[in-house]
Amino acid sequence: MKRLLILNCKGGCGKTTIATNLAGYYAASGTSTALLDYDPQGSSQRWLELRPEDCSVIHGVFAGKPSKGGVTRAFALRVPEETRRIVIDTPASMKRLELMGMLRAASAIIVPVLPSAIDQHVTLDFLNELTTLCRQMAINIPVGIVVNRARSHTRAFKQLKETLEGLDIPLVAFLRDTQYYVHAAELGCAIVELKERSLKKDLRQWEALVDWLETGKLPPHIPHNQPDCVAI
Ligand SMILES: Nc1ncnc2c1ncn2[C@@H]1O[C@H](COP(=O)(O)OP(=O)(O)OP(=O)(O)O)[C@@H](O)[C@H]1O
Ligand SMILES: [Mg+2]
Repeated sequence: MKRLLILNCKGGCGKTTIATNLAGYYAASGTSTALLDYDPQGSSQRWLELRPEDCSVIHGVFAGKPSKGGVTRAFALRVPEETRRIVIDTPASMKRLELMGMLRAASAIIVPVLPSAIDQHVTLDFLNELTTLCRQMAINIPVGIVVNRARSHTRAFKQLKETLEGLDIPLVAFLRDTQYYVHAAELGCAIVELKERSLKKDLRQWEALVDWLETGKLPPHIPHNQPDCVAI
C-alpha cells in the first residue's frame, strides 16, 4: 500500500485538483484506491460525494472533518484491506506534529506549484522547510514538483521552469491550465475519466506523473535533476 501525499502550504496551488485526479486515475485503471481529505474544508470529500455511480469506486475518508474533541478517531481513518494506493489531500496550513505524522507514513510527496512569482517564492521556502524537516526526522521520501496550470508560452512559466530545474528536487510533471479540471471537479470525476479526444495530451501528463510515482522514472522531456531518483 502506497501513501501519496499532496502538500504545499500555499493555498490554491492545486492540491485538491491533483489529489482527486490522481485518485480518479488510479481507480479508473483498476487499482483499489482511497482518498483521504485532511482539509476541514472538505473539497475532496465533496468531490467524492458527487462521483457518478458508473465511475470506479474510491473509498473516501474525511480525516479533516471537524470533530467535537478536535481529534479524528483512529478507526475512522481506516481504509479497506484491499486498498493499494492512498491519496492524501492536505490543507494549506497544518500543525507541525500532524505534518510529521503524515511524513512518517508517506511513500511519496507531490508538491504542486503555480507559475507566478508569489507562488514560486512561497513554494521554494516550503520546499526548504520540508527537506529540513525530513532530514531532522531522518526520513528519505521521494519528493516531486508538479507545475500546475502550466501555460508554456508565458514568461512566468519559463521563469518558474528555469528556477525549478536548478533545484535538486525533480520536476515530475506539468499539468496544463484548462477548464476541463473545473468541469471534472463539478462532476466528481478525474479529467482522464471524461474520455474527451482533446484530452489526449493531458492523459500523457498524468501517465508521466503516475510513472514517476510507480517507478521513480522521469519522462524524457523533463531534465533528470535527481539522477538517483528512488523508485517507491
Ligand atoms: N490545471 C488547472 N486548470 C484549471 N483550473 C485549475 C487547475 N488546477 C486547479 N484549478 C482550479 O484552481 C482552483 C484552486 O485549485 P485547488 O482547490 O485544487 O487548490 P488547493 O491547493 O487545493 O487549494 P486550498 O489550499 O484552498 O485547499 C480551483 O478552482 C480549481 O478548479
Ligand atoms: Mg484543497
